Amino acid sequence: MTLAHAIGRQLEHPRGIGGWLTGHAMRVVNARPTALTIDALAVQAGGIVLDMGCGTGDALEALARKAGSGVVYALDQSDAMLAVARKRHARRIRAGSIVLNYGDFAALPFADASFDRVLASNVIYFWQNPYAVLVEILRVLKPAGRLSIYATDGTDMAKWSFVKHGTHILYTAAALDGLMATAPDSANFRQQRVSVGLGVHGLIATLDWSAA
Ligand SMILES: C[S@@+](CC[C@H](N)C(=O)[O-])C[C@H]1O[C@@H](n2cnc3c(N)ncnc32)[C@H](O)[C@@H]1O
Repeated sequence: MTLAHAIGRQLEHPRGIGGWLTGHAMRVVNARPTALTIDALAVQAGGIVLDMGCGTGDALEALARKAGSGVVYALDQSDAMLAVARKRHARRIRAGSIVLNYGDFAALPFADASFDRVLASNVIYFWQNPYAVLVEILRVLKPAGRLSIYATDGTDMAKWSFVKHGTHILYTAAALDGLMATAPDSANFRQQRVSVGLGVHGLIATLDWSAA
């Protein structure tokens, strides 16, 4: 396996020491995309929020501050990432304002209509069946809830060697619009293209769910 392939696999499912190192690299690289996507999410005080694919839990403190008396749930398939997040957020976990969950995007371990907001930052590349995951998110989103997705623009990502080994599904603006358009009619979505530094661009898709 090449180094590029190994990095792609660690980004998809961080494991062991390599996963730990990858997690810390993600913290630096993903800081601006995470902040922009949290802004788009417009978390309200008292809100119940899900960060799907939380990695090392970088988004959790900002989400918890915005949610105030609400609760932020974080889900990941990686024990290595959850261990880092558990250590970083021990105080809030004890207080019950952050709850970590082991789980898979394909079958979110939550009841219908659980969340006011769902954050999906830098994870859409790993949705093996993107339509099914979108439907699963809408299942756990409350009526009037909001989903915000961040993906680095596929036209930029296509230049990176670590995405060329089948670990990542890339999204251009048109592909992301195409996926969001498959959501039921009662969902409204919009997309913005943002600069995230070093000449790289990101796509933020925000979906407002109005299903009763
Ligand atoms: C590239 S990291 C992004 C982490 C964080 N959201 C960020 O922006 O820094 C992708 C994360 O998604 C998780 N992940 C990938 N596929 C998953 C799945 N099917 N179910 C749950 N978590 C998954 C990985 O374990 C990893 O922690």
